[in-house]
This record gives sequence, structure tokens and C-alpha cells, in this order.
Amino acid sequence: MSVDAGEQAALIETVVTTTGSDGVVNCAAMGVRWGEEQLVFWPFNSTRTLANLRFRGEAVVHLTDDVLLFVQAALGHPRPPMRPANAIAGSVIEEVNSWREVVVSEITPTDGATARSRVRARVVAAGTGTRQPHGLCRARHAAVEASIFASRLKWLGGERVLGELARLQELVDKTGGPCERAAMAYVCGYVAERA
Ligand SMILES: Cc1cc2nc3c(=O)[nH]c(=O)nc-3n(C[C@H](O)[C@H](O)[C@H](O)COP(=O)(O)O)c2cc1C
Repeated sequence: MSVDAGEQAALIETVVTTTGSDGVVNCAAMGVRWGEEQLVFWPFNSTRTLANLRFRGEAVVHLTDDVLLFVQAALGHPRPPMRPANAIAGSVIEEVNSWREVVVSEITPTDGATARSRVRARVVAAGTGTRQPHGLCRARHAAVEASIFASRLKWLGGERVLGELARLQELVDKTGGPCERAAMAYVCGYVAERA
């Protein structure tokens, strides 16, 4: 079943590349409502992603189950191998499951108190990357959840976040492989430096 209303579709966690006025490519983890012809996402107003989208109006949105890349894009500034996009002046991460190249059609402020903007973007090209999807894995989802807690450390506080990480670590230990363990270690290192 394909849903194209954008905001009805499932929120998929993606890695979004955008290019700044200085030519630097930024990778950011971002939840995206995934339609066939249109994607909708909500960057915080403070993000480089939103600044870049305002400047160029183009992005590449990647699906990947490489959870290490995902948590690095959420908490740091990864530089994975990339190549030029096909239909826009953007950058495609090579080792992903698939990607979509998009052109922004509308940026609007949201009503809530969350200081985000809503971005609607039209899909203009798509492709598949070199990474085969590996299916569902509890440890991968645990590492994604851990990265969300880490990204909210300032609001939730160290005690709460460390407690959540300990719970999620059990899942990673039980069901993870090297990539999931490395992702969880990256998140724990990020929190340990700041908590
Ligand atoms: C699971 C997950 C989902 C996220 N979704 C969003 C999002 O929808 N919007 C957003 O602005 N940041 C989101 N983030 C946080 C960004 O990935 C992070 O702030 C990143 O550094 C983007 O900032 P930048 O564009 O300045 O690089 C998410 C983080 C995680 C772990």
C-alpha cells in the first residue's frame, strides 16, 4: 500500500544530506513522512539542514539500516563516501539501501512550541545504494532509541538518559552485531562526555 498524503504516511528515520552556501555537505538524522511523490519533514529551526534547505531548496533523503551511520548523523558530523546526485546539485551517500532526491516545494513554521519548520519536498529522482537491507533487528532499534535519548540529554537530564541507555544496552548485548554494538558505544560515549 502506498500513501501519498505525506502526513498520513509512516515516519521513517532517514539520513538527509544538504549542501551549505560554503559547499560543505551536511548529514543529519531526520524523521520523514514517506510518500511516493512527496516527503514531509520537520527540521528544528536551529539546524544546519534547515539553513541549507532555505539556501538551496534541495536534499537527498537516504534510507539505511546502517545504525552506526544513523547515530553519527544524529549526534555528530559523519563524512561517509558520497557521490554527486543525478537530478539535483546534492550528494548521495553510496553505502545506503536507497535514496530519494527532493526539491523543496514549501517551508512553513509549525504552530507548536517546538521551534520547527515543516518542509514539503517533491521527489525528482530515486535510486538504490550498495547496501543490502538486513531486516528487522531489536538491537538496531534500541540504538536508534538510545540516540533519541542522547539528543535530548539537555532536557531529560543525565540520570534519566543513563537509565534508558542501560535498559537499551541489554537489547544490544542480546541481539546486536558489530555495527549495532559500535552504534551503541558511540551513543554512550557521546552521553558520557556530557552527562
Ligand atoms: C531518531 C532521531 C530523529 C530525529 N529527527 C529529527 C527531526 O525530525 N528534525 C530535526 O531537526 N532533528 C532531528 N533529529 C536530530 C538531528 O539529527 C540532529 O539535531 C542533527 O544534528 C541535525 O542538525 P544539523 O542539521 O544542524 O546537522 C533526530 C535525531 C534522532 C536520533
